Amino acid sequence: MDSVNGSLLILMPDREDDAGLLAANLREMVAGLEVRIWPELGDPADVRMVVSWRHPPGALGRFPNLDVVASFGAGVEHILVDKGLPSGVRIVRTVDESLVRDMVEYVLLAVVTWRRRWESFQLNQAKGLWAPQSYPAQTSVLVLGAGRLGGAVSKALIDLGHRVASWSRTGSESQGARCLEVEGALCEALPHAEGVICLLPLSSETEGILSRPMFERMKEGSLLVNVARGRHLVEEDLLDALKRGRPAHAVLDVFREEPLPAAHSFWTHPKITVTPHVAALTDPKEAARRVAENWRRLSEGEDLLDVVDVERGY
Ligand code: NAP
Ligand code: GLV
Repeated sequence: MDSVNGSLLILMPDREDDAGLLAANLREMVAGLEVRIWPELGDPADVRMVVSWRHPPGALGRFPNLDVVASFGAGVEHILVDKGLPSGVRIVRTVDESLVRDMVEYVLLAVVTWRRRWESFQLNQAKGLWAPQSYPAQTSVLVLGAGRLGGAVSKALIDLGHRVASWSRTGSESQGARCLEVEGALCEALPHAEGVICLLPLSSETEGILSRPMFERMKEGSLLVNVARGRHLVEEDLLDALKRGRPAHAVLDVFREEPLPAAHSFWTHPKITVTPHVAALTDPKEAARRVAENWRRLSEGEDLLDVVDVERGY
């Protein structure tokens, strides 16, 4: 593969291992590509592409010839919030098949574990108690977000025989799910959903969406799964809502502050399951393939893959 003049910088300060693996794979895939890992910059004027994960704010303003910033993941809010992002720089994201598969697996695990009362069987086993419990033949699930991840999750739930409604900004077609747009449709769907899954991008429109007005409309005994971003959730509202059983349980993978502080009440809450932002992890080798392809496209003046609409925010 020919190389565009310039270098590629990996700027992922809190993911050193992934940065090393990504660099090694890129060097193998793109002959002659100069790959640098922050804080080793070389000449900042050489940097044409940055692969970022939660880079220090303002860092991108140091590269006068920057063309592309690639997120080392599906979410891009960590790039869009950087006021130092030079105008005209294109933003792309990394969503490969393994990321989609892992997200589907996580959400199915959460929904199925809750639907089949797995936790109560584990508690009963500890007591030596044989106590069969029935479960509904079908579950209604509302998926917020009908994009690459939300769409795949909806399809997987439908394939398992569940009723799925899918809510998005434009009412996007979502693999056989009942498609909803506008807030009114969401309000109507909430009281019927036994599970609500958040797979929205974080934006000024979606921040805080998982809050009291939504919880008040949720079905008693329902499940909330947040696998999007911590700032979608108003934490105090959830704690109140759990007392009323709407929802009755929350599975949370993402948090306002990560790592979740040791003293945070979520850790010990009996109605909250905490996982450490692992629902779907970007595989450095798969990411290297996508980044290498975009480097080739940049070199040859072709359209890039997975370009983000900066105005829309995702
Ligand atoms: P995507 O393909 O960009 O899809 C976004 C979906 O959200 C679209 O259906 C979009 O509607 C909808 N949407 C956007 N703004 C909305 C609004 N204001 N109201 C209603 N719907 C709105 O995103 P994705 O690849 O599926 O990823 C979703 C998010 O998952 C990421 O942004 C990231 O935060 C999170 N994530 C988490 C993990 C983890 O490990 N926990 C891993 C990967 C990703 P339209 O279809 O109408 O445009
Ligand atoms: C993970 O959170 C991602 O956005 O890929």
